[in-house]
Amino acid sequence: MKINSRILAGTSASVVLLAGLGSPAHADTAALGTAPTNAATTALSSDWRKTRSAIGVDRKLEAEIDRILSGMSLRQKVGQMTQAEIKLITPEEVRTYYIGSVLNGGGSWPGKDKHASVAAWVALADAYYSASMSTDMAVKVPIIWGTDAVHGHSNVYRATIFPHNIGLGAARDPALIREIAAATAKAVRATGIDWVFAPAVPAVQNARWGRTYESYSNDPALVKAYSSAYVKGLQQRFGADSAIASVKHFLGDGGTHNGTDQGLTIASQRELVRTHAQGYYGAIGAGAQTVMVSYNSWKDADTGIDHGKMHGNRMLLTDVLKNRIGFDGFLISDWNAIEQVPGCTKASCPQSINAGIDMIMVPDDWKAFIDNTTKQVEAGEIPMSRIDDAVRRILRVKLRAGMFDGVAPSGHVGAGQLTGVQHRELARRAVRESLVLLKNERAALPIRRGTRVLVVGKSANSVPNQSGGWSLTWQGDETTNADYPDANTILAGIEAAAGKDNVVFAEKPERIDPASFDVAIAVIGETPYAETKGDLAPPKTLTHTQRYPEDLAALQALSVAGKPVVTIFVSGRPVYANDLLNLSHAFVAAWLPGTEGKGVADVLFADPTGRAEYDFRGRLSFPWPGTPCGASFSAAAMAAEPPLFPGGYGLSYARQKATATLPVSTAQACDSK
Ligand code: GLC
Repeated sequence: MKINSRILAGTSASVVLLAGLGSPAHADTAALGTAPTNAATTALSSDWRKTRSAIGVDRKLEAEIDRILSGMSLRQKVGQMTQAEIKLITPEEVRTYYIGSVLNGGGSWPGKDKHASVAAWVALADAYYSASMSTDMAVKVPIIWGTDAVHGHSNVYRATIFPHNIGLGAARDPALIREIAAATAKAVRATGIDWVFAPAVPAVQNARWGRTYESYSNDPALVKAYSSAYVKGLQQRFGADSAIASVKHFLGDGGTHNGTDQGLTIASQRELVRTHAQGYYGAIGAGAQTVMVSYNSWKDADTGIDHGKMHGNRMLLTDVLKNRIGFDGFLISDWNAIEQVPGCTKASCPQSINAGIDMIMVPDDWKAFIDNTTKQVEAGEIPMSRIDDAVRRILRVKLRAGMFDGVAPSGHVGAGQLTGVQHRELARRAVRESLVLLKNERAALPIRRGTRVLVVGKSANSVPNQSGGWSLTWQGDETTNADYPDANTILAGIEAAAGKDNVVFAEKPERIDPASFDVAIAVIGETPYAETKGDLAPPKTLTHTQRYPEDLAALQALSVAGKPVVTIFVSGRPVYANDLLNLSHAFVAAWLPGTEGKGVADVLFADPTGRAEYDFRGRLSFPWPGTPCGASFSAAAMAAEPPLFPGGYGLSYARQKATATLPVSTAQACDSK
């Protein structure tokens, strides 16, 4: 085994000893190119600790890597480091250009068909696999396909969609997370795919961020526990129904100023470790094999040094993640993210590769990227040792995952089976456990079966609204209930529980007299969004009804009848909703439950004796804002503007608590703190 004797500067003694065992210090100082483009080199804080992966170094496997690597040309190596989008590369091009990976972005399907069958996914995976195994390489390297199966295999028609992470964080059930991850692995393998761009492990610090719902919590300890459980469930030490995890997005994505997507995170190294890195410690400890790099930038709060975009940050990507923490899998860039590094474009970024990124997600400009990167190596801008380190890491992951078993995607157990992507009872349980009861007055809940129920609201009969972003499409939009033939809306669950003849649904209650019913249920909240589109930038407030006045109108129309009003709030974040809480006798935070809407009614209804089959167990994964501008979860911000309900809050039938009438602020704007 070739052991690289040159150890990186700044690596602590303990890591130096381990580095000799084929662990991550294969890269050498020359491989790392220049220091961060816009900052002096910063001493690594002693807070960064090495973490031992559940998947150790295997000398035989490392020797196999040496053998494969030694027979690869430069173009074959650069091809292996390239990830292209399936809409923009054919199997023949995969073969010709030695492509190491493809992805389907949100809203990208085989044949550009939103209703592509599981068999169609497998057929395309087979085509890419066969192409990668038909190159003229001395040792053929199988292609790896990555997908955003972030709440079940959510891009795939008829796949079960689980609650988004914000709801799973509320469930406080790591065993459930592990089961969901195992089901997700089974689902992606049923479609011929082997790599999942999950878990996302931001410890979100501001509700304004459009990706808050992709986070388990603002609490780093909870994020660490869940990231570990997810990786164990997904990778399962690479058995038949396993998939490779990609922990994302490294580092500090959930800590940007004002929650601005892809913005600037200002934090000390200690805060980076204690708040933002805990999910990586959990995931890497559990054996995660890939890490996706974040769009955000980082400014060191201690030194004032602006280290710029993470995609160019050698200190955190290599010195910290690879050498100090000891991560020996591979780093992948985010979608065209390299273009944000000063001096780079979508098709050219030696800075990112020298910073430590091993595979580049270059969805469309992949041909130019291969040409440019090859030339940059030949010109010495990128040391060959850095290329070799990147390819070694990619080969290490593919070998560890058993991808060299010579079996095509369609040859794996369960491939092509629709049942592989459907996990409805597990998802329904997750919905039940994710619900958080914030208010329950006049014993509005549980509702006895057989009572007359009026259901209103835009999200009662809408699978898109109850699923949120990353559902069939990137934004979760441009879809209807017809795109989800196997799903149950929240309304369908209520009808099944109450008896269809006892339920009347009117999205807008104007022409219905609520007084003729025993109880009214309003299913309201946010409409789908993803990433930047979901940001609530200052001066916008967190006041929900300023963005969705139809929800206030619905509750006002119901409240005149004096009958119990139960609000089911479907959202990707906690918001300021004192006006809605005051108009509700019961208020349930349902987050983004996904396709199994019946899980909501499971907890709302009781048998004729009044006994509910399931009690609420959810606890807030984030504090619930008490003011229109109370978006930040920092200790200082919450001291100044206390949340209405703290993280961890949640009522149940067994644990009731009166909720007083709340003050309602009419503030229309917030300053940018
Ligand atoms: C997106 C997201 C990332 C996702 C990737 C591929 O921009 O930031 O979470 O995995 O692109 O879809």
